[in-house]
Amino acid sequence: MLKTVTGKSATNAAALLAAGELVAIPTETVYGLAGNAFSKKAVAKIYSVKKRPRSNPLIVHIASIEQLPLVAKKIPVAAQRLAAAFWPGPLTLVLPKKDTVAAIVTAEQNTVAVRVPDHPLTLELLNITGFPLAAPSANPFNYISPVTAKHVALQLNGLIPYILDGGRCQSGVESTIIGFEKGRPVLLRHGAIPKEVLEAHLGVKIKVAKKITGGVKQPGMFKKHYSPKTPFSLVEDMSQVNPLFRTGYISLQHKWPYVPAKLQVQLSPTGNLAEAARNLYEALIRLDGLGLHSIVAERMPDEGLGVAMNDRLQKAAAR
Ligand code: TXA
Ligand code: MG
Repeated sequence: MLKTVTGKSATNAAALLAAGELVAIPTETVYGLAGNAFSKKAVAKIYSVKKRPRSNPLIVHIASIEQLPLVAKKIPVAAQRLAAAFWPGPLTLVLPKKDTVAAIVTAEQNTVAVRVPDHPLTLELLNITGFPLAAPSANPFNYISPVTAKHVALQLNGLIPYILDGGRCQSGVESTIIGFEKGRPVLLRHGAIPKEVLEAHLGVKIKVAKKITGGVKQPGMFKKHYSPKTPFSLVEDMSQVNPLFRTGYISLQHKWPYVPAKLQVQLSPTGNLAEAARNLYEALIRLDGLGLHSIVAERMPDEGLGVAMNDRLQKAAAR
């Protein structure tokens, strides 16, 4: 077992990564479990630490749009426009890959998922390493994505040497993933940038992928995902629920006067979906640590960030 150290040094993190080790990194969405994207050995470690099937490809993180040609080629105009507008930021683009990117990163596909994360410490790190970082969310496969260094320590203690502590993640849900079909954008995963925002920028409607394309399991294709260990269910309206003993509740705003405060989370007392998204995984992880009989969450309004949150909540509730 390794000793896992938490710290704020991008230099330490870079040295470990250059030596082929894994480091947990902060991003604006969730923490990532990073390794040198150009090292097959480091990438293999990512799959094994996460217990992630090798059929599920990783996102490659780069320092800036200028590094895109290191990993991708034949970049559609729509992708260039999205990257120019939203990077650094929570938008992942799936593009034809360069041969420099090993098959293990992309699960044998000829496309690579890539983004520039919007976090000062991780951007500093990427500028020191000079190589891109392959990084899935830093949770064991199927568990909830960590949004603090502490969450990472809870989930991966003893499995990685270093957690780069960049504080609490700002947006709190994973990046939006966009692929391209004949140059046209297709949404592969709802995420921190609502689809309408991307559509408004491009001036076109973005189709939502329904099916597995190219034989690959897309982000949304694993039905059960993001799951707490405690039995978890979803309701439409928390105010209609009769609270039970030893149950945790997560709603947007609903508050019962007689349920203990630590068992009921209001994700945003003012109904702000950005605030709610920032608090969602924290709430799930905390309640999951209490040894309850069950956790009940309320569906969010199906608009803006609520769409990505509902996608995660539905997958967490899937059996
Ligand atoms: O916000 C995020 O995207 C975070 C931070 C760390 O960047 N990362 C993240 O990674 O959510 P992960 O591995 O948990 O989810 C990435 C998703 C996977 O579901 C994978 O199937 C999909 O991206 N993906 C990766 N490469 C792909 C490709 N070439 N084609 C289609 N989907 C791909
Ligand atoms: Mg993940």
